[in-house]
Amino acid sequence: MYILSPSILTADFNCLGDQIAQTKAGGAEWVHIDVMDGNFVPSISFGMPVIRSIRRGTDQFFDVHLMIREPERYVGVFADCGADLITFHLEAAKDPGAVIAKIRGEAGKKAGLAIKPSTPVAAAAPFLDRIDLLLVMTVEPGFGGQKYIEASTRRIGEASRLIRERGLHTDIQVDGGITRDNIDTVLDAGANVIVAGSAVFSGDIRENVRFFADHFAACSSRMEDCS
Ligand code: DX5
Ligand code: ZN
Repeated sequence: MYILSPSILTADFNCLGDQIAQTKAGGAEWVHIDVMDGNFVPSISFGMPVIRSIRRGTDQFFDVHLMIREPERYVGVFADCGADLITFHLEAAKDPGAVIAKIRGEAGKKAGLAIKPSTPVAAAAPFLDRIDLLLVMTVEPGFGGQKYIEASTRRIGEASRLIRERGLHTDIQVDGGITRDNIDTVLDAGANVIVAGSAVFSGDIRENVRFFADHFAACSSRMEDCS
């Protein structure tokens, strides 16, 4: 029910495979992979060859976050590289419905839709019944290590209400500035897939992942007690 998706953007690329293995050893079943094109966002990160290479080293679920323009052009290649979930930005696509259809239909992968902090949550509403995950960005996309934008808490709540009102079970992912200190804020607001970069890759990776895993387990059992 609660999922941690460690963002490798802040990993040490000199030993990337080993660092990913440490997230798995700590209990992470997902890996968050940030692809940036230097156009939709100012920065350039990495692309297909890196994903193909790390795919050979782990069976973790590959959560690929595309921060690129014209995402429809790249759905097939990222699917072939080993993505399990392909998330693209609403702001970057001319026809978001067509991109979703391509991800789910042609590529046979899970589809995620991301919205920047300045995009109204309501803009994602028409697509909620066709996606697996809604990514509510909690920082401006482009860089790891930024501070959580406080106004995001209200936006997560709004997304959660929209999804529940429609009787859907779409996952709500948050990404950017998530730490041990604000994890409860985003969980309470309704997020269930948590991306963490710096909070996982600074210090002891395994211990950091375990912290989140234990925290999620405690939250889940608390919820069961209440039902
Ligand atoms: C930002 C990326 C994030 C980033 C998160 O554009 O989408 O995934 O790596 O890193 P932290 O957790 O350090 O904010
Ligand atoms: Zn991301």
